[in-house]
Amino acid sequence: MAESKVEYNYLGKSGVQVSNLCLGAMTFGESQFEIPTQASEKLSFEIIDKYAELGGNFIDTANVYGIGSSERVVGNWLKKQDRRKFIIATKVRFPMDTGVNRIGLSRRHMIESLDESLERLQTPFVDLLQSHLWDNATPIEETLRTFDDLVRCGKIRYFGVSNVCGWQLQKIVDKIEMMGLSRCVTLQQEYNLLCRQPEWEEFMVCENEGIGVLPWSPLKGGILTGKFRHDVSPDAKGSRIGYTHTNESRAIPGSSAWRDYRDDNSYWKLIDSLRTMGGKYGKSVPQVALRWLIQKPVVSSVIIGATSVKQLEDNMGASSGWSLSDEDMSSLNELTPRPLNYPYKMIWSFQKDRLNKFNRSIVL
Ligand SMILES: NC(=O)c1ccc[n+]([C@@H]2O[C@H](COP(=O)([O-])OP(=O)(O)OC[C@H]3O[C@@H](n4cnc5c(N)ncnc54)[C@H](OP(=O)(O)O)[C@@H]3O)[C@@H](O)[C@H]2O)c1
Repeated sequence: MAESKVEYNYLGKSGVQVSNLCLGAMTFGESQFEIPTQASEKLSFEIIDKYAELGGNFIDTANVYGIGSSERVVGNWLKKQDRRKFIIATKVRFPMDTGVNRIGLSRRHMIESLDESLERLQTPFVDLLQSHLWDNATPIEETLRTFDDLVRCGKIRYFGVSNVCGWQLQKIVDKIEMMGLSRCVTLQQEYNLLCRQPEWEEFMVCENEGIGVLPWSPLKGGILTGKFRHDVSPDAKGSRIGYTHTNESRAIPGSSAWRDYRDDNSYWKLIDSLRTMGGKYGKSVPQVALRWLIQKPVVSSVIIGATSVKQLEDNMGASSGWSLSDEDMSSLNELTPRPLNYPYKMIWSFQKDRLNKFNRSIVL
């Protein structure tokens, strides 16, 4: 591995260190959504090779990305590496086919799904197994006991969760404590300058409980790259955003829509500010948007996406060797306000005179 050009953080309250930028593998291999910028295995290898050369050691995939295709690409790459150097994360929860038990967070499906992931990834263990979404059908005790069993039998080193709301995350933490199980070390949540809602609930749990945040879609699927123009419709073949914009029937679940931002003045003001700020540091729009996330204390590692080596190199330039000033962090915070709805407004406006440094809780 070449000389490291990235910084490392602990993976939540665990003894493992990961690069502060994690490589998202969702765009590697075939996509079930036929996205034109999806990377072939050859291009994916070039992107992962460059990531590793720059010191990256953390790769995030999921069983469901390309229905196994992403894990297969990562596995084919991983088998040629020194396995000990990399932290591999995958997920379970979404359906892999139409089988009635091929979905969810039941003990049965979690174990079956992990075994299949290990086969595709060509490794005897994954470092981090994450639930991809809450499963209403399975008692949370069953899911948490299974995670613990998988840690104890060595098939996973740690576990984390993704896409949960505040009460669900606190319930997970409390059940783990009551049952004496392995702790949940990470929360993978959408988090970027245009999506700050998790700061109100989920991240407060994370700060109190030592759970590291892994932001997904840090550039809002490409919307925060500064590469789109107000008067030009994004090219259908040139980007994921353009592909979904030009035919709404292709909308990818959970993905960002260009129409939501095109006529929004506050969005263009944000892009202009990112560009001006970047100019001051000699950095690009994506680098500033990623750096804002890296500097949030609750974040362990930001999960970047890239469909070319050039994008990867650009994004990796956010990792180390520079920082946004406190003033610039505050100005980005102010440009992207979080709506303070009831009950948050009432709860938080009365806490300022009740700060007790011996009673760790969140201070806004
Ligand atoms: N847990 C979950 O539910 C969940 C959901 C989504 C994603 N994820 C994870 O998060 C990872 C990243 O998500 P994401 O791909 O949505 O991240 P993102 O950073 O918001 O978007 C990445 C996309 O933006 C464009 N892009 C990235 N860097 C660029 C640059 N420097 N210049 C110009 N364009 C650039 C590329 O798309 P184009 O080339 O097509 O424009 C790239 O695929 C995924 O791989 C996955 O591991 C998790």
